[in-house]
Amino acid sequence: MIGYGFMGRVHTNAYKRVNDFFPELKYRPILQAVCGRDETKVKAFAEQWGYASHETDWQQLVAREDIDAVDICVPNNLHKEIAIAVAKAGKMVLCEKPLAMDVAGGEEMCQAVEDAGVANTVWYNYRRIPAVSLAKQLVDEGKLGRIYHYRSNFLQDWTIATDVPQGGAATWRLDSAAAGSGVTGDLLAHCIDTAIWLNGSIKDVSAMTETFVKERMHAETKKVESVGIDDACAFMCHFENGSLGLFESTRYARGHKALYTLEINGANASIRWDLHDLNRLEYFDHADDSNVRGWRSIHITEGEMPYMDKWWVPGLSIGYEHSFIHQVADFLANLESGQPTSPTFREALETQAVCDAVLKSGSERAWVNL
Ligand SMILES: NC(=O)c1ccc[n+]([C@@H]2O[C@H](COP(=O)([O-])OP(=O)(O)OC[C@H]3O[C@@H](n4cnc5c(N)ncnc54)[C@H](O)[C@@H]3O)[C@@H](O)[C@H]2O)c1
Repeated sequence: MIGYGFMGRVHTNAYKRVNDFFPELKYRPILQAVCGRDETKVKAFAEQWGYASHETDWQQLVAREDIDAVDICVPNNLHKEIAIAVAKAGKMVLCEKPLAMDVAGGEEMCQAVEDAGVANTVWYNYRRIPAVSLAKQLVDEGKLGRIYHYRSNFLQDWTIATDVPQGGAATWRLDSAAAGSGVTGDLLAHCIDTAIWLNGSIKDVSAMTETFVKERMHAETKKVESVGIDDACAFMCHFENGSLGLFESTRYARGHKALYTLEINGANASIRWDLHDLNRLEYFDHADDSNVRGWRSIHITEGEMPYMDKWWVPGLSIGYEHSFIHQVADFLANLESGQPTSPTFREALETQAVCDAVLKSGSERAWVNL
């Protein structure tokens, strides 16, 4: 594990729990080493979470012969260099999203894992929230009929204060040198990944981006520097299947903390999902008898629903962290069967391409084709 922040904790939890709840899996993750730059802190993390050892230099960790898989949980600007080194060392690589800083970097990462023939995946975890996985089943079964609209938002409010710094440990997301972009790569990337998975490829995009606070102090240099990230982004697009897409993300929607929503409207049925109520899928089926037709709120707790046979009893729900446990479970099962784990680096590159196109469209104020 490289990085022991938010995702380092979430992923470690997943590795620790997966075999308890997926006992049929042949492979068991071993928490062999965790890497961070601060020796005291990384040692404490290793002890708290049960890693056998720690490193302060990721290159040392990648070089170790007792490590078969490396999980990249560091800011976006480090993904490429680490992932390529891991692949060259012949190890499996699990990388946080967005895959890279841009498509060119992502392409190099894809080449590296493909040349090395190592198992790889990118943590677009929302696919594996059972309600979202059920949405995928319903779409694939053709329940929605021809799809006309895909609508998705990811709204937050944590950077409204003008004295939030950029850069450094807690606020690297505001520093374009570390993050690559703002809400586009951080939040919309999730919406785009799910959208492509549920509704197919995107053909072209037209975006507007805005940086509301133009200058912020840099946490490391203490200097006031211009802000290079997009604070907000909205775009519309055409999907290859003929449907229209509408996406919005911002960190300036006062009152919203992590409001990821999606809605799909088909000729026969519609689906709606909301991260703040993640165990429910709303479903409207026009084939219902007209006297009882309406939006159903399906509580995703039955054993027949995706992944739910692994958890509690009907009526009892699971949470955010379980989507990561599901991704590890799928990764381990796929190692046994020799299948890739979606999204692979190559699949995540498509999301990266859409993010790049969105940013280009926003800056040029023009439609951009994929
Ligand atoms: N899948 C998701 O839903 C999701 C959610 C949050 C973050 N992320 C992604 O996960 C990645 C990490 O985000 P986070 O929220 O965990 O960030 P974080 O700031 O909480 O943690 C980052 C970690 O990286 C470490 N780090 C930084 N530079 C390093 C270096 N040179 N060597 C070793 N360690 C280094 C930091 O010390 C810290 O432990 C980002 O790419 C982010 O986009 C994904």
